[in-house]
Amino acid sequence: MKPYSEMTKEELLALRKDLKAKYHEFQGRDLKLDMSRGKPSVDQLDLSMGMMDVLSSNDDLTCEDGTDCRNYGVLTGIDEAKELLADMMEVNPNTVILYGNSSLNVMYDTVSRAMTHGIMGNTPWCKLDKVKFLCPVPGYDRHFAITEYFGIEMINVPMSPTGPDMDMVEELVAADDAIKGIWCVPKYSNPQGYSYSDETVRRFARLEPAAPDFRIFWDNAYGVHHLYDHDQDHLIEILAECKRAGNPDLVYKFASTSKISFPGSGIAALATSHNNLEDIVAQLKNQTIGHDKVNQLRHVRYFGDIHGMVEHMRKHADIIRPKFEAVEDILEKELGGLGIGEWTKPKGGYFISFDSLEGCAKNIVARCKKAGVVMTGAGATYPYGKDPYDSNIRIAPTYPPLGDLIIATELFALCVKLTSVEKLLKDMQ
Ligand SMILES: Cc1ncc(COP(=O)(O)O)c(C=O)c1O
Repeated sequence: MKPYSEMTKEELLALRKDLKAKYHEFQGRDLKLDMSRGKPSVDQLDLSMGMMDVLSSNDDLTCEDGTDCRNYGVLTGIDEAKELLADMMEVNPNTVILYGNSSLNVMYDTVSRAMTHGIMGNTPWCKLDKVKFLCPVPGYDRHFAITEYFGIEMINVPMSPTGPDMDMVEELVAADDAIKGIWCVPKYSNPQGYSYSDETVRRFARLEPAAPDFRIFWDNAYGVHHLYDHDQDHLIEILAECKRAGNPDLVYKFASTSKISFPGSGIAALATSHNNLEDIVAQLKNQTIGHDKVNQLRHVRYFGDIHGMVEHMRKHADIIRPKFEAVEDILEKELGGLGIGEWTKPKGGYFISFDSLEGCAKNIVARCKKAGVVMTGAGATYPYGKDPYDSNIRIAPTYPPLGDLIIATELFALCVKLTSVEKLLKDMQ
C-alpha cells in the first residue's frame, strides 16, 4: 500500500470504510487487555520464586561482618548486598546507599530533602522564588509527577537516539541558576529505549551549571536489562566520568532490582560522591535506623554475585524478547511505509515509543480503549501530561501474555490507521 499522504480523497474514504468495519469487528470481541504499565509479567515474577527458598527458620541470618540481619541498624545497607548492587550499577560499593524496595521513593526523597533542607549547605529549594528542572521528552511520567508535586517548573528538552539535546542542556544550565536538576534515564530510556552516547555522557560530566546545587538525576533503572546477548548497549560510567571531569558531586545515580527480582520487594540503591553521601546520611539517620536487611541478605544468597544476576537477566530476556519482536513485526507489517507513524526498536528496557501523525495520539488511545485495550494515556510521557504534538504513545509489551499482546497490537495498528485517515481527510477540507 502507498503512503496515506499520497492517497486521493476517494481512496481515503474507501479505506476509512474498510477500517471502520474492521474496528467494529474488534469491538464485538469484548476485549479486556492492559498495555498501560511497564510491569513484569507473571512468568517473569515466577523466575525469582527461588528467592523465597534461600532463607528459612533454620538459617543463620548473620551477614559476613557478624551483623544479625533481624535486628536494628546498618543504616546504609549490609556490605555483601552493597557489593552486589554496586556491581550492578558499575560503581564502587563505598559510593552506595541501599534503601527499601523502590528507587522512585529514593528519587522523591532526594527532591524532598533538597526542598526542605537544601543540598550540601545551599539554600533549601522551598525558600527560592523559582526552582526548575530539565525534562528530556518524551520521558517517564512518574519522574515528572515528582517534580510537579513539589511545584518545580519543568522545561522540555528534546531527546534523540544519542540522548537529550546537549547544546540546549549546556546552555540552559549555564545561564539559569534556578535550574536545579535534570531527569535522565541514560540506558534503554523510558519510553524510547535509547541509550546515551559516549559523547552525551562526557558532556553531562562536564556541565557547568550556574547553580552550585544543580544535580543530574541519573536513573539507571534498566542498567542490566538487555534483550539480546550479543547486541547490548554499554555506557561510560557517569560517577567515574564526573570525577575525571573535576565535577565529582554533580550526579545522583539511582537503580533498583524491581525488574530483576520483584518490584514489590526488591532493593533500591543510590550511588554518589563522598560529599553527597555525607549530606544524605545526615538526613537519612533521622528518617530510619535501617532498611530491610533480611531482604538484602535474601538477594545476595539468591543471586550470589553479579554473574548470577546477569544469568538471571537472560531468563527475563528470553521471556520478553519475543514480545518486543512481536510488537515490532506487527507494526512493520501493518504500518510500514504508510507514513503515519514511527516507532523505536529497543535493545533493552521495558518500552517501545510510538509517534503518530501530529494531533492523533489522544484519539488513537481513546479508540483502543473503546475496543477494550488500555494503553498508557497519551501525553503521559510529557511534563504536565501535555504532549505539544499530541503524537507520542508509550507501548509496554512486557505484562500481557504473548497472545493478548498480539491482539492488542493489531488493534492498536488499526486505530492508528483509522485515526490517521480521518486526520488526512479533515486536513483536506
Ligand atoms: C525509568 C524508571 N525509573 C524508575 C522506575 C521505578 O523504579 P522502582 O520500582 O525502583 O521504584 C521505573 C518503572 O517503570 C522506570 O521506568
